[in-house]
Amino acid sequence: MSEPTDSEAILSRINPKIPHPARIYDYLLGGKDNFSADRAAAEQLVAISPGTREGVRAHRAFLRRAVRHLVTTAGIRQFLDIGAGLPTQGNIHEIAQEVIPDARVVYVDNDPIVLTHGRALLNSTPAGVTKVVEADLRRPNEILTHPDVSSILDFTQPMAVILAGVLHFIPDAEDPYASVEQFKAAAPAGSHLLLSHITLDFAPPQISRDEFTKPYDKSSAPMAPRTHADVLRFFDGWRLVSPGLVEVVDWHPDEDEYREAIPGGHAWAYGGIATKP
Ligand SMILES: C[S@@+](CC[C@H](N)C(=O)[O-])C[C@H]1O[C@@H](n2cnc3c(N)ncnc32)[C@H](O)[C@@H]1O
Repeated sequence: MSEPTDSEAILSRINPKIPHPARIYDYLLGGKDNFSADRAAAEQLVAISPGTREGVRAHRAFLRRAVRHLVTTAGIRQFLDIGAGLPTQGNIHEIAQEVIPDARVVYVDNDPIVLTHGRALLNSTPAGVTKVVEADLRRPNEILTHPDVSSILDFTQPMAVILAGVLHFIPDAEDPYASVEQFKAAAPAGSHLLLSHITLDFAPPQISRDEFTKPYDKSSAPMAPRTHADVLRFFDGWRLVSPGLVEVVDWHPDEDEYREAIPGGHAWAYGGIATKP
């Protein structure tokens, strides 16, 4: 029998019966890279919070605006996007390379399906670089010393570390604060941290934390929503860019204003950018 190819080896590690955040999110965004277990978990979320789909779209719109800010206002040319998700419309490198054709982007995710799709779909401009790495944000050293990370990103030049929609999959018991500190320490002065995070601060009182997190109980990663104060702690020691850590729809809203389109009027997610002094 012949040796399995890279893709076959990766596919053998994908369990379609266990919902996974990347595929739940893909389904909510209208993508096709998901299984029935992912769709069931996503529908459970929508039943609990009817604004989930629109909230997720508002979150992607925030990410687009924030990355545009990084390239146009902050002049950032290299990106480490951790918890990157499945390729969708408006990926980080597309937004960045539109303005800076030689922008370099390394995507990191711990879901093997992201790796297969990412390799197939993420096309860089000829001048820039785009790479997908399979790694876990709970082990920052493995990311920071990964040959694709250390060869593509220049750790002597300002970079953006992006942790969008991912830290709420790391409960306090696994100390996401310590992981974020390691990425912050590795980035040189002038670097930026772009972060977004699910919160229940805007949820109506009848929705309990247990009810909201239940759809993720059987998934590959539990859900840990955090308060404004707890999300703010991830930025400790760095200078927040105006308007600070706010609900994603309030971060430099543009003409694609989503609040009105969200049932309940809130996206249930905070977003912000900070810079290393
Ligand atoms: C909700 S998606 C966010 C995708 C994208 N960053 C965005 O904001 O649109 C969360 C992603 O984080 C990934 N993820 C979850 N836990 C992770 C971990 N411990 N290490 C790396 N990636 C992780 C999931 O596989 C998924 O692709």
